[in-house]
Amino acid sequence: MSLIPDDVIEQVREAADIVGIIGEHVELKRTGSDFRAPCPFHGGTHRNFAVIPRKGMFYCFVCHAGGDVFTFFMKKLGMDYPTAVREVARRVGIPIPERGPAGPDPREPLYSAVAAAADWFARQLREGAEGEIARQYLASRRVELDAALPLGLGYAPRGGGAFLDAMKGLGLRDDVLLEAGLMAKREDGTVVPRFRGRLLFPIHDLRARVVGFGGRILGEGEPKYLNSPDTPIFHKGQLLYNLHVAKHAMRKAERAILVEGYFDVLRVSLAGIEEVVAPLGTGLTAEQAQLVKRHTAHVILLYDSDDAGLRATFRAGDELLRQGLRVSVVTLPPGDDPDTLVQRHGAAGLEELLKDAVDVLERKIQILERKGFFGTLPGRRRALDRLLPTIRATTDSITKELYLSRAAEAAGVRKDVLEREVLGARSRERFPPGGPQSTAPRSPLPANAEKALLLLLLEGEPWRARVIDAVDPEEFEFAPYRAVFESVADDAVLALDDTSARAYEHLKAEGLGGRDPNAMYEVAVNWMEARRLERELERLDDQLPFESAERQASLIAEKRRVFDELRKRYPRYKIAARRRGAPGT
Ligand code: GTP
Ligand code: MN
Repeated sequence: MSLIPDDVIEQVREAADIVGIIGEHVELKRTGSDFRAPCPFHGGTHRNFAVIPRKGMFYCFVCHAGGDVFTFFMKKLGMDYPTAVREVARRVGIPIPERGPAGPDPREPLYSAVAAAADWFARQLREGAEGEIARQYLASRRVELDAALPLGLGYAPRGGGAFLDAMKGLGLRDDVLLEAGLMAKREDGTVVPRFRGRLLFPIHDLRARVVGFGGRILGEGEPKYLNSPDTPIFHKGQLLYNLHVAKHAMRKAERAILVEGYFDVLRVSLAGIEEVVAPLGTGLTAEQAQLVKRHTAHVILLYDSDDAGLRATFRAGDELLRQGLRVSVVTLPPGDDPDTLVQRHGAAGLEELLKDAVDVLERKIQILERKGFFGTLPGRRRALDRLLPTIRATTDSITKELYLSRAAEAAGVRKDVLEREVLGARSRERFPPGGPQSTAPRSPLPANAEKALLLLLLEGEPWRARVIDAVDPEEFEFAPYRAVFESVADDAVLALDDTSARAYEHLKAEGLGGRDPNAMYEVAVNWMEARRLERELERLDDQLPFESAERQASLIAEKRRVFDELRKRYPRYKIAARRRGAPGT
């Protein structure tokens, strides 16, 4: 049997209907977005076996059999890997080359179908009788038809017949049109074109092939924008509108302009500023940020100035910082979007605003300042809480250094204190939490209480029940451990994200390793209790500065009590190193 190319295997896996395939062997029942059944591998009677279509995976909570659609065939029917791949490929209609690695791309028919449709839609806009509606719409929005047509814009007429006839005339089969997202199947089995009565923006991949559309309704109607569904060639989180053109301009201009919508891109780009892109109606994903980073190091965010726009701005900003990009923000006049602004003030008006773009952290500080956050102590604390995620998101070390200085200055705290807060949270993410141990290396505690508790949890009863009784999920500071605890307690291991799933696998592989569970349990629970006391101290500390003298006195008494308790449990525990202003230090 010849080797099957990896990318073909990937396509087959993506195309496979894992629910349908596994459903031929067991009786699946939907629960939320997943499916459950009695496990066909260990032969259980309860519905401990889950199929998660979103991840293309199955898993049994009892016997831990799990894997993808290929693994299912291998385990269930004893196939070897290539046979399993071929079997699934046969069902989804992807041809597997018998020999030699490179065959034709099985997605070729989809590219052809979408390209043919794009041509036909463009023709309707240019010269179709019903296209007059769209031509007038563009005119009403002051877009010149002659300028818009070269960008590939099109019109999908309201009735569906003409489109279907035209596609049939080109020899395109229903199954291809369905897979390309150009048609949808109704409940009764008949098919209709997906786009009807809409102005269409073609969406290209990096090789400038049309892979999908964004369609705007003309006049009133819902939804305002309709995108192609995800297909083997269209993944909306991994594409940016206009990137195929903008990528060249980005290199020249040494900047990318990120806007919210199709019309914004259209307007800005027609005004001669071509380094403009937009996500496809969703928040900016990490993949999209990486795509931008391939072509430039600087992104200017040009979103609406309303609250929703600001939230989207800062979320996108953090994502871009995470990829190591420099991020600036333009503030549009209230009520304007890039489309309306350029309509009224032209490219020159926009360039003026672009010149005034400020760094994304600076913009956050400006807004907090304007809202009066820095006027009071609690306000400063809250302001810092808003700034910290952005500082943490920053992966460029020089930017991070500058951000720390700037935020410390704005909030009136010492930079080293802020730095410790930022680093503290990060090292906690990277290494499992230290708790009191982190400053008392010789403490009798095990290396890691959270881990110890999870190892016990995974040991099964009676430890599982005891651990669940002893701690709450929120007490786990290490996010993947918290997720593991929650999901094991709820029997929902499948809901784990990749990082948590890996943590889960590691924990399961490690086991107790001969350690005494009783001793482990006692020490770990004790440690968690210490951390509870610690948090209590922290809370009292936070509260103190804002209270009346009288109330302060009682808080200090309370603090003393908590502190003594902590000392009693952990005579060697050094509170001074962790907490400023603890009593007795
Ligand atoms: P116009 O009203 O035509 O100017 O649209 P716009 O481009 O200014 O869009 P708006 O600011 O309303 O929304 C920004 C982007 O969000 C749009 O370009 C779409 O990508 C997306 N969007 C808006 N409305 C919808 C919707 O109803 N469904 C979906 N899927 N996306 C939408
Ligand atoms: Mn608009």
